Amino acid sequence: MIRRIAVNTGGGDAPGLNAVIRAVVLAADRRGWEVLGIRDSYDGLFEKDGVVKLDRRSVRGITHLGGTILGTTNRGNPLRWPVKAEDGPVTYEDHSDAVIEALASHGIDALIAIGGDGSLAIAHSLAEKGLKIVGVPKTIDNDLAATQLTFGFTTAVETAPDAIDKLHSTAEAHERVMVVELMGRHAGWIALYAGLAGSADVILIPEIPYDMESVCAKIQARYRRGRNFAIVVVAEGAFPAGGEPLFKQKSAGQKRLGGMAEVVAEGITAGTGRETRSLVLGHLQRGGSPNAYDRLLALRFGTAAVRLVGEGQFGCMVALDPPDVLAVPLAEAIAKTKLVPLDGDVVQTARAMGTCLGD
Ligand code: F6P
Repeated sequence: MIRRIAVNTGGGDAPGLNAVIRAVVLAADRRGWEVLGIRDSYDGLFEKDGVVKLDRRSVRGITHLGGTILGTTNRGNPLRWPVKAEDGPVTYEDHSDAVIEALASHGIDALIAIGGDGSLAIAHSLAEKGLKIVGVPKTIDNDLAATQLTFGFTTAVETAPDAIDKLHSTAEAHERVMVVELMGRHAGWIALYAGLAGSADVILIPEIPYDMESVCAKIQARYRRGRNFAIVVVAEGAFPAGGEPLFKQKSAGQKRLGGMAEVVAEGITAGTGRETRSLVLGHLQRGGSPNAYDRLLALRFGTAAVRLVGEGQFGCMVALDPPDVLAVPLAEAIAKTKLVPLDGDVVQTARAMGTCLGD
């Protein structure tokens, strides 16, 4: 018998989080359930005023808003809680029992956890300890297995062609090669989709380690045809054949990727003699209002999660399996990263048009 549920948002934000929260609150309210929001992933459970009541009024007018009204963090995994001994090293402890106790102390019967691979792995561990939990997949990277799409992805993709269109005119004016780095840690979904939509000449994704000679050959061929500029899209997780992804920060917590666009730009200058510039689109792709598709997907995910709680289906995640939203085990969702299929139609589309994919 469910009376009170909680919802939280974990990991990097994605456009559509607020739409999920609104859908959860409205759908739960219609069932007569109370909803609590936990601030900053699980951190709010251990902070004053970190657990807030969410009612119809608190989720008014938020469907179109980016970010998350609950806050989020991609640090502070409760399963690996950093504990600093006095004058000693930092060690990590499993605080999952404390999370489960804190939820119980708030009278929470079930939790809807909205997050990416890290948050869903935490959800899976908590489910294995008996917590009634339903996951909602979120990431602009679209790299979660078991769902065809995650909300936030199509909005992130949409941001990039607008920027790439602007780069075309300045690249052409100066006869330069412009190299733009887009997000995508392990998978090249954003770079491939945005690069194709933005008519990039070269698209480099983590799934295809790139060869600088191929990239330079493509650019030289273009200049020989009298097109004296080029646009290169680089996923932040792309790397050269025989090389490794580039990290700009290797400190505690999640390693931060970055800098590959500049490396590629330098390689192009060295290999072709052409003038290059590089830029990183970065968090622009995560910010702003979700597009209509992501709003709808987020609303569908939120109501589906409430439906699963009502049916007593826990330890699972809502997933898009067109035309349906259904439940998949969390274990399946976190088992692997969903990479761009190299024999898939979008890669074939790029190859058929002569777009260089770096190989
Ligand atoms: O996973 C989503 C994502 O935006 C990645 O594309 C990117 O590498 C990472 O998060 C950036 O995280 P942060 O916001 O911590 O810099």
